[in-house]
Amino acid sequence: MLGKRILLIIGGGIAAYKTLDLIRRLTERGAAVTPVLTKAGAEFVTPLSVSALAGAKVHTDLFDLTDEAEMGHIQLSRVADLIVVAPATADLMAKMASGRADDLASTLLLATDTRVLLAPAMNVRMWNHPATQRNLVTLHSDGALVVGPNEGAMACGEFGPGRMAEPLEIVAAIEAAIGSGPLADRHVLVTSGPTHEPIDPVRYIANRSSGAQGTALAAALAALGARVTFVTGPATVLPPDGVKVVRVETAREMLAAVQAALPADAAVFAAAVADWRVANAAGSKMKKDGTGRPPALEFTENPDILATIAQMTAGRPRLVVGFAAETDDVIDHATAKRARKGCDWIVANDVRPETGIMGGAENAVTVISADGAESWPRMSKDQVARKLAARIAEALA
Ligand code: CTP
Repeated sequence: MLGKRILLIIGGGIAAYKTLDLIRRLTERGAAVTPVLTKAGAEFVTPLSVSALAGAKVHTDLFDLTDEAEMGHIQLSRVADLIVVAPATADLMAKMASGRADDLASTLLLATDTRVLLAPAMNVRMWNHPATQRNLVTLHSDGALVVGPNEGAMACGEFGPGRMAEPLEIVAAIEAAIGSGPLADRHVLVTSGPTHEPIDPVRYIANRSSGAQGTALAAALAALGARVTFVTGPATVLPPDGVKVVRVETAREMLAAVQAALPADAAVFAAAVADWRVANAAGSKMKKDGTGRPPALEFTENPDILATIAQMTAGRPRLVVGFAAETDDVIDHATAKRARKGCDWIVANDVRPETGIMGGAENAVTVISADGAESWPRMSKDQVARKLAARIAEALA
């Protein structure tokens, strides 16, 4: 963190008091914190305590002409290595998602091309409200990183998700975002989860992938400092903190999102992509026709995302990693798959039902590379993710 410049926007919520501790934690790690206090934020913490802890001037008003002469708001937002919004209130998130710029904080956020980390904090109903969740999806796809919120008792007396992440959790997310680990300055793409292939507007074909392994891997890569783009189908586990989340439904959408996210230093394809989609998917709901005859679905092959990227002639990521789910002859099948798809490594796992791996918390993998097959002992999906992330860091070093 030494010498890193953090622009810290303090929103108007009771959690603003925790931001004072955050400033202290950041400055003692050598970061330079430039604080911006919203009008509502100043109702919860005073400019004096913020500036005393940061050892810097607090910026509060967009129309301070002296400030504009000293350092304009555009400049202020661009000199930072990272912009942190803590607490990110429902209102600030809504302003950001809709691109409003009616005070200093929202103007800075609109004027910048620096990455933004949000630490949301609000009442549980506000957090769960469809409007906030919609804004969150928009902010994710705009590239904002998010840490928290945590679940627990809240100042308003309710219980649930909405508590701001603790200062040290925010520090860890900042460290991952500004990349002090071995993958600092590396962009890694991860696909995860199942895909949903529509039959008609209300029905789809899917698979049982939970997205757990891809999510753990994205978190482990971010923890090593990588900038992670996480392209996920409709998974049951939540996406990790501190990564750019791109949500997709179908294999074709996943391929388009992956291509749009390039260039990348490495790409890891952990998604369980449907190999087939319904060619004659209906535009309106299919009805029983009274004859008792089921509709005939025709299938067509989906694009192979892993093979498409692995076989790129220009702009191919330096390291392309695929996964293989096998039930027998794991090593032979995975070795053949590596050659067929043209990827560098295949992480093969044995998904026979008796292993309990598909949908479970553990994994036993064999990593196939040009050097041969290496079987790892059975361990948690988190441990597999950390070990694989460390290997990726070595390969990109
Ligand atoms: N994959 C992909 N796009 C597809 C299908 C698969 O990117 N349309 C990727 C998966 O993310 C995974 C690997 O390819 O990294 C799995 O390859 P796949 O051929 O689907 O293997 P299995 O699922 O193991 O199935 P099969 O053995 O039947 O080919």
